[in-house]
Amino acid sequence: MNIKSLLMKIDIFFTGYLLSRIETILYGVDFSRPEGIDGIYKRDEIHYQASMVSIVRKAIKELKPDSNDAIIDVGCGKGKMVWFFRKSGFGKSDGIEFSKTIAECGQQNLKKLGLDSIIYNEDATLFENYEDYNYFYFYNPFVGEIFRSTVRKILESTKNKEIIFVYLNPLCHDILENEFRMVLVKKYSNFYRKISGREIYIYRSNGHEV
Ligand SMILES: C[S@@+](CC[C@H](N)C(=O)[O-])C[C@H]1O[C@@H](n2cnc3c(N)ncnc32)[C@H](O)[C@@H]1O
Repeated sequence: MNIKSLLMKIDIFFTGYLLSRIETILYGVDFSRPEGIDGIYKRDEIHYQASMVSIVRKAIKELKPDSNDAIIDVGCGKGKMVWFFRKSGFGKSDGIEFSKTIAECGQQNLKKLGLDSIIYNEDATLFENYEDYNYFYFYNPFVGEIFRSTVRKILESTKNKEIIFVYLNPLCHDILENEFRMVLVKKYSNFYRKISGREIYIYRSNGHEV
């Protein structure tokens, strides 16, 4: 086993199992990793696993979101980051989730937490309300063509305003920088983040034509 797969296993144990058990006890929510549910990952092969809030906290704090800011977690899973963003100062925090089973679980979670946030059970490539947001969060929901067409749709819907992308484990960095001319404004990166897939890149749109 190489170091990367060892770190991933540790990560799965802590975020997918231990931490989610604690969250269930404390808040009655379910952010567990749903292994073995048929049909969920047919299109993208990337499984649901919640972000670890401790990895993202500093980056979000430094962005200083306020009540005029609206964020959407693209591929939000069970809504853990939707909850975190609402607590972090965003006036509006919603999510889009492709899997019906996971989206329903997320909607239940938000209800239990007393949040007015929405989880849209939709395919991110088809979502029609990106213009309502100025921040976009990605934790590897998909790569390749699906990523490309989602970003194109976001940029076309938000042409006249500045938007920010917060991207955890930015596998599609080249697409953002080279194809869409997004400006990389900050990297949260070190050796450990790099090998464990925990780098965060922050991008700004240049407001130009897509
Ligand atoms: C790695 S999880 C990230 C969960 C969440 N963003 C977080 O950070 O806690 C990626 C999620 O993206 C969802 N997803 C994959 N393809 C999608 C699509 N085309 N539209 C919307 N969601 C999608 C998956 O079902 C999965 O729940």
